[in-house]
Amino acid sequence: MSVEDRFKKRYKTGDTPWDIGKPDFNLIETVVQKSIKRCKALDIGCGTGDNSIWLAQKHFQVTGTDISEIAIEKAREKASKSDVKCTFLVVDFFRNQIEGAPFGFVFDRGCFHTCASDKERKRFAKNVASNLEKNGLWMSLIGSADERRQGPGPPQRTASDIVTAVESYFEILLLTSSHFDSNRQNPPRCWVCLMQKREDVSEALRPNL
Ligand SMILES: C[S@@+](CC[C@H](N)C(=O)[O-])C[C@H]1O[C@@H](n2cnc3c(N)ncnc32)[C@H](O)[C@@H]1O
Repeated sequence: MSVEDRFKKRYKTGDTPWDIGKPDFNLIETVVQKSIKRCKALDIGCGTGDNSIWLAQKHFQVTGTDISEIAIEKAREKASKSDVKCTFLVVDFFRNQIEGAPFGFVFDRGCFHTCASDKERKRFAKNVASNLEKNGLWMSLIGSADERRQGPGPPQRTASDIVTAVESYFEILLLTSSHFDSNRQNPPRCWVCLMQKREDVSEALRPNL
């Protein structure tokens, strides 16, 4: 089953343990501590929208995108209940142009880490860079391979997986070990990675012919 079909099925059956009904504290801490200024923001794989909505409440102009129609429908309902303006779109990040680009800040929680190979992760990083303005920032929350786990959980990536994928396009400003915000007793470990698009990236962003 494709990643796309797997996620769609999980939203359909309600098997969405990442959907915690609140913004992830790692996003809040990073935006506050790094003084990330309000700008046009993109939340890739936004799910039911809690992180997008928090950013909108902080006066970012937010576009949230996901491949799941169910997730986007819920995100729109939540935004309407919270009385904030967010644009939510059903978009496959790998296939579609993102309306509203370029953005100043891109966030993803648990979307980049679904890419299983170096090749896919590099493609994801390149796509992020091409949707960002000059010096734009990307913050990603990524399941950590340093967790010894019994049972299911988010995909696990090493620090080296991340660096290998992003380095041609991004300068890494922060790569730190944390855990996902969670409603469970033992939240899964994650990497918090904050990156800045390189100034000299234009050559690397040319489409592969
Ligand atoms: C682990 S969930 C996290 C959802 C949300 N970020 C959150 O924190 O609640 C990963 C999300 O990425 C979405 N996703 C996976 N591949 C995608 C793609 N190619 N384009 C857009 N969204 C994608 C899934 O549908 C899912 O909602």
